[in-house]
Amino acid sequence: MNAFSHKSIKLNLYGLLLALFVFSTNFTNAQDGEKLFKSYCVSCHYAGENVLVGPGLKGVTEKYEMSWILEWVKNSQALVKAGDAQAIAVYEKYNKVIMPNQPVNDDEIKAIFAYVDDYNANAAVAAPSASSSDAVVATSDSAVEDDNTTYYVFFGAILVLLIVISVLRKVNYSLNSVIKNGEIEDEKGMWSALVHWGASNRKFVVLFVLGIIVLFAKAGWDTALNVGVYTGYEPEQPIKFSHQVHAGANKIDCNYCHSGARNSKSAGIPSANLCMNCHTYINEGQQYGKEEIAKIYKALDFDPVTKTYGDNTTPIKWVKVHNLPDHVYFNHSQHVTVGQIDCAKCHGPVEEYTVGKQFAPLTMGWCIDCHRETKVQTEGNGYYDEIHKRLPEDLKAKYLENGVINVDELGGIECAKCHY
Ligand code: HEC
Ligand code: HEC
Ligand code: HEC
Ligand code: HEC
Ligand code: HEC
Ligand code: HEC
Repeated sequence: MNAFSHKSIKLNLYGLLLALFVFSTNFTNAQDGEKLFKSYCVSCHYAGENVLVGPGLKGVTEKYEMSWILEWVKNSQALVKAGDAQAIAVYEKYNKVIMPNQPVNDDEIKAIFAYVDDYNANAAVAAPSASSSDAVVATSDSAVEDDNTTYYVFFGAILVLLIVISVLRKVNYSLNSVIKNGEIEDEKGMWSALVHWGASNRKFVVLFVLGIIVLFAKAGWDTALNVGVYTGYEPEQPIKFSHQVHAGANKIDCNYCHSGARNSKSAGIPSANLCMNCHTYINEGQQYGKEEIAKIYKALDFDPVTKTYGDNTTPIKWVKVHNLPDHVYFNHSQHVTVGQIDCAKCHGPVEEYTVGKQFAPLTMGWCIDCHRETKVQTEGNGYYDEIHKRLPEDLKAKYLENGVINVDELGGIECAKCHY
C-alpha cells in the first residue's frame, strides 16, 4: 500500500514537471515576441500608434496580409523595387527612409506581431490613451519582467512544496517502519531520509537541478538584455563632489567646469588643477570637513600648509556616468550652441544633484523624439545662413514663411548623422 502511494507521488511529480516544461515553453513563445521586438524593432518602432523612425506597429496585422508583412520585414526594399503598390505607398509616406532588412524568420515575425497585438489589447484596457503609454514601451519593461518573476516564484514554490511533502511522507514511512522494528534512529533521520530519497529518485533530482539552472540562466539573460539602459545610474565617485554645493549653492556656471560643452564635441570633466582655483584656499567643506577636499590635494601631491606641489601625482578616476555606444556620434556644441538647448533638458536639474546621475535614457528613440519635436530657432543664430543653405527647395518656402524649422526636416533623423 505504502509502496503504491509512493509510486503515485512520483508519477504526479513527473506529470507536474512535464506540465511546467510545456507551460514554460508556451510562455517563452509569448515572451519571445516581446524580446524580439525589443531587440530588433524598438529602435525604430513603438508598439502603439506613435511614429518614431517608422510608424507605430499598432493595427498592422489588420491592415496587411501576414504574407506581405513577412516579406516586408525581411526585405522591404525588394517589395518596393518589385513595384508592390502597398510597399511603395508606405515607403513614400515615411519620407523614403529605408527600413533595413531584419534578421528574423517567419515564426519570429509572427511572434513579434502577436506581442504587438497583445500589447495594444492590454494598453486599451489599462490606459484609454494608448498614445501616452507608447513612450513607456521603449524604455521600461520592468513591469512585464515582474509578472514573469511572479510566475516563476509561484511554480518554484509549488515544486518545493511537493518535494517537502513527498520527503515528509517518506520520512513518515521510514519512521513507521522504524517504530515497527523497534529501532530508534539518530537525529540525522530527516537528512538521511532526504539523501535516501534523492538516491532512489535520481531522475527527478537531475530534472529538478536542470530546471533550477534553466531558471537562473533565464534570469541572467533577461538582465543582459537590459544592459545599456541606465536611467538614474549614479555610480560612486572617488571624491564626494556635489553639484548641489557647486552649481547650486555657490552658483558656479556649468561652463566654468565643463567648458567643452559650448565649443566642442565633449563637455569634458574638469581636471584637478581647475578645482585648485578655489580649493587652494577652501580646504574644508560643511559636510565632509577636510576629508574629501584632501583627496584633491593627494591627487596633485599638494601640501596645504606650505602650499607647494610635489611630483607624486595620481589622476582622479571619475567614473563616467553617461556612455553612448561607440557607433553613435553626439556633439555637445551642436546642441548647446547651435540648437540652443539648455543642459537641463538632457541632464535634468544637475544643480540639485549631490552625485552625478544619468537623467535621460540615451536611447535612439529619445534622440529621435526630440529631433521630431524641436524647432530650430534661427533668428539671431550665427548658424542661420548655414541652415538656409542646407535647405532643400521644397522646404525653403515653408521655412521662410515661419522662420523656424524642425530638426528632422534638416536631416536630423538620417541614420548617417548619428552613426559612424
Ligand atoms: C532602423 C529603423 C527600423 C527598424 C530597426 C525596423 N523598422 Fe520597420 N520601418 C522603418 C521605417 C522607416 C518604416 C516606414 C517605411 C519606410 O520608410 O520604408 C518601417 C515600416 C514598417 C512596417 C510597415 C508599417 C505600416 O504601418 O505601414 C512594418 C510592418 C515594420 N516596419 C515592421 C518592422 C519590424 C517587425 C521590425 C523589427 C523586426 C522593424 N520594422 C524594424 C524602420 C525600421
Ligand atoms: C565645480 C565644477 C563643476 C561645475 C560648476 C559643474 N560640474 Fe558637472 N561635473 C563636475 C565633476 C567633477 C564631475 C564628475 C563627477 C560626477 O560625475 O559627479 C561632473 C559631472 C557631470 C555630469 C556627468 C558626467 C558623466 O560622467 O557622464 C554632468 C551631466 C554634469 N556634470 C553636468 C553639469 C551641469 C549641467 C552643470 C551646471 C548646472 C555642471 N555640471 C556644473 C564638475 C562640475
Ligand atoms: C569656483 C570655485 C570652486 C571650484 C572650481 C571647485 N570648488 Fe569645490 N567647493 C567650492 C566651495 C565654495 C565649496 C563650499 C565650501 C563650504 O562648504 O563652505 C566647495 C566644497 C567642496 C567640497 C566639500 C563639500 C563638503 O560639503 O564637505 C568638495 C569635496 C569639493 N568642493 C570638491 C571639488 C572638486 C573635486 C572640484 C574640481 C572638480 C571643485 N570642488 C572645484 C568652490 C569650488
Ligand atoms: C541634447 C542633449 C544634451 C544637452 C543639451 C547637453 N548634453 Fe551633456 N551629454 C549628452 C549626452 C548624450 C552625453 C553622453 C555623450 C557620450 O557618451 O558620448 C552627455 C555627456 C555629458 C558629460 C560627460 C562628459 C562628456 O562630454 O561625455 C558632461 C560633463 C555633460 N554632458 C555636460 C553638459 C553640460 C554642462 C551641458 C550644458 C552646457 C550639456 N551637457 C548639455 C546630452 C546633452
Ligand atoms: C532636447 C532635444 C534633443 C535631443 C534629446 C537630442 N538632440 Fe540632436 N539636435 C537637437 C537640435 C535642436 C538640433 C539642431 C541643431 C542644428 O541646427 O544643427 C540637433 C542636431 C543634431 C545633429 C545634427 C543634425 C544635422 O542635421 O546636422 C546630430 C548628429 C544630433 N543632433 C545627434 C543627436 C544624438 C545622437 C542624440 C541622442 C544621443 C540627440 N541628438 C539628442 C535636439 C536634440
Ligand atoms: C538622432 C540620432 C540617431 C539617428 C538619426 C539614428 N540613430 Fe540609431 N542609434 C542612436 C543611438 C543614440 C543609439 C544607441 C541606443 C542605445 O544604446 O540604446 C542607436 C542605436 C542604433 C542601433 C543599435 C540597436 C540597439 O538597440 O542598440 C541600430 C541598429 C541603429 N541605431 C540603426 C539606425 C538606423 C538604421 C538609422 C536610420 C533609420 C538610425 N539608427 C538613426 C541614435 C540615432
